[in-house]
Parts: sequence; C-alpha cells; structure tokens
Amino acid sequence: MSSLQCYSTFKIDVSCAAITSFTDVASFLSLYDAKKLTYLLGGGSNSIFIEDFEGSILVNKIMGITHYDTPQNHHLRVGAGENWHELVTLCLQNKWYGMENLALIPGSVGACPIQNIGAYGCEVEKFIDSVECVLLETGEQVLLNNVDCQFGYRDSIFKHDLAGKVLITHVNFTLPKAYELETSYGELAQLDEPTPEKIYHKVIEVRQSKLPDPAQLGNAGSFFKNPVIDQAQFDAISENYASVPHFMVTDDREGRDERVKIPAAWLIDQAGFKGKTLNGVRCHPTQPLVLTNIGGASGADVLAMARDIVSSVKQKFGISLEAEVRLVGKTGLITL
Ligand code: FAD
Ligand code: EPU
Repeated sequence: MSSLQCYSTFKIDVSCAAITSFTDVASFLSLYDAKKLTYLLGGGSNSIFIEDFEGSILVNKIMGITHYDTPQNHHLRVGAGENWHELVTLCLQNKWYGMENLALIPGSVGACPIQNIGAYGCEVEKFIDSVECVLLETGEQVLLNNVDCQFGYRDSIFKHDLAGKVLITHVNFTLPKAYELETSYGELAQLDEPTPEKIYHKVIEVRQSKLPDPAQLGNAGSFFKNPVIDQAQFDAISENYASVPHFMVTDDREGRDERVKIPAAWLIDQAGFKGKTLNGVRCHPTQPLVLTNIGGASGADVLAMARDIVSSVKQKFGISLEAEVRLVGKTGLITL
C-alpha cells in the first residue's frame, strides 16, 4: 500500500494500492489498464481521499511549455503536468497578459479545464483555445475546441459526457495582445491605475489574507459551489434576509438568464458553521466555504461536517449545496 497523504492538499492519512507518475502519452498508455481501478491525479488540490482507495493512482507529469505569437495573439501549448500558478507567473514575466486574475490557484494545468477554474472575475475558459486528450477506452488522441468543452461555472464536458473517460495531456491557450484588464471583482476595483502586475500582486495578497495555505493547513479550497437559484426563490429569501449578498448570472448551462448566485460562504455563515470544529475538521473562520484539516482529520469527519452543512443550509434556506471538491472513496468518486 502507498500513502496518499502527500498527494492531496487536504492531507487525510489514507492509502492506495500504488502510485505511479508518467511523463508522456506512451508511458501513460503502458501503465493504464481500463479493467483496473485507476484515479488520475494532478496536484491533488481538488481531490479529497476519504478512505483507502482500492485502486492505483496515476499522477500526470507531462511537462513542457511552447510559445509562439501572431500579430494579434500569444499562443501557448502547455503540458498538463505543469503547475498552474507557475504558468501564470511565467506569462506575466513575459508580458503575455490576461491570466493574472487566476494567480495562486493551486494544481496542475491539466485540471484547469475540468472545473473551468475561476477567481476574481475571470474564468480560464476565456483563454482556452483547445484541450488535447487521450480517450481512455481506445487510446485515441482527440482535440476538443473551446465550444466542445461546454464550459460553465465550475463546469465542463469533463464533468459530464467525458467524466472519467479522458486523460488531458495538453492545454492550448490564446492570450490576445490587446488584453483587457478585469478589475470589477471586490478589492481589485480599488486599484489605482491598474496594470496586469498590480492585479497579479493584489490577487495574491487578497488570497493569502482569506484562504488557508495548504502547505500549513490542509484544505481543498472552496468545498461547495456557489448555488445559482431562480429569481422567485431569491425573492423569498430576501424577504427574510434583506442584506443577502448576490450576483446576477446570465451564463447558466440550461439557458435560463435571470438567475441569481448567492455566496455559499454567506449561507454557511448564516447557518452557524463558521469556525465550527468536528474532530479534525474545521469550517474556516475567515472563509466558511473552506473546510480545513486541523490535524488528524478522517474522511468520516469530512463527510459528517459536509453533510451537516448541506442539511442545515437546506433546512434554513431551501437551497441544496453541491460539492465542488472531488470526494474519492474506496472504489471511486462518492457523493454527499
Ligand atoms: P486534482 O485534484 O489532482 O484533480 C481534480 C480532478 O481532475 C480529479 O477528478 C482528477 O481525476 C481530474 N484530473 C486531474 N488531472 C487530469 C488530467 N490530466 N486528465 C484528466 N483528468 C484529470 N479552484 C478555482 O477554480 N478557483 C480558485 O480560486 C481556487 N482556489 C483554491 C484555493 C486553494 C487553497 C485550494 C487548495 C484549491 C483551490 N481551487 C480553486 C481548487 C483547485 O485548485 C482547482 O480545482 C485545480 O484546478 C485542481 O487542480 P489539481 O491538479 O490539483 O486537481
Ligand atoms: N462571506 C460571508 N461570510 C464570510 C466570508 C464571506 O458571508 O465569513 C460572503 C461575503 O458576502 C463575500 C462572499 O461570501 O462577499 C464571497 O466571498 P469571496 O469573495 O471570498 O468568494 P467566494 O464566493 O466564497 C469564490 C470562489 C473561489 C474564488 C473566489 C474569488 C467558488 C465556489 N469559489 O469564492 O474559488 O477564489 O470566489 O473569486 O466559486 C475554489 O473554487 O476553490 C475557490 C477558492
């Protein structure tokens, strides 16, 4: 058995049958056996291993970054095993601007399209030109363009039709030279004469002040997605809670435009969980959307705390919170 503790930023002390890394498609194909239980892993910052996993873990280490430019754009082809934040930093250093709002998000480049990572008013779908994949069943290599990926809020085809069916090997990005600064979100709006460099440093400063550093306190970022509800449900909630924070959203996958996003942090805060501890798991005191491993957390503690939050929020507001993180049980993904 191999310990999984260092392979997931939540750091639960569990193990699996074997852990192997691969650096190219040929070595992946020689390791992968469709008949055997396997979990593909990048940086482990969105995967919480709840109990001993009966299968093997294959860790993507496909590296390499190539760049060329055209009069309008910078184009990058990036190996899925590259570190996301290091890519953002490299782009900034080279003045290939645009992705600075996404600084300091942990994890690998290969995982960024899967939940369409986003922060501070920006989602990675804006920069993804295409995603190179290997179909697990046949070993065939395929290219999905931006539209094929069906991006949404923390969502893509990789969580639906292609869930568990592909290895992402490379992501191709296009960064327009005529870049636009995105400063509408929170603290970025106060920046004086904003530049990409100022945005990058501000995003890092804000993130470090709010979010626990996984190197010091095990966590997997936002545990739940921010729920998106319809106007009538929002109106009913705001009758009782006049100050409920909210954002209008128009990009709902089902095509309904008038929808309202409510911060799950606020719902969890209102339900009384902020700072609450259950054995080794704590609902983070400055950002209740994050659950942390304060030491010795077990998978059962995580599930118990998360399920308690879901049922309390449901009871108080009628809203069903959905996990953002991947919870991995004995034989694969489990639901709350
Ligand atoms: P992993 O946990 O390794 O994998 C995630 C999923 O993708 C798994 O299901 C895995 O099987 C699959 N997968 C991974 N690589 C591949 C591949 N190459 N091919 C096929 N499948 C693959 N997310 C945001 O969107 N915004 C944030 O602001 C943000 N902040 C965070 C802050 C902290 C402190 C932490 C710990 C997490 C945060 N996250 C955030 C979540 C996380 O960083 C992202 O989801 C990230 O993209 C996960 O990358 P990873 O490589 O660590 O994924
Ligand atoms: N809030 C409270 N109580 C608190 C803290 C926050 O009520 O104690 C409310 C406030 O109204 C605040 C709101 O929650 O304005 C939103 O908080 P924040 O700006 O920190 O963002 P978030 O909605 O909690 C989302 C993403 C983060 C991303 C940030 C910044 C999701 C699920 N989470 O968090 O992504 O970094 O915005 O853009 O969409 C992740 O996905 O892992 C992640 C960290």
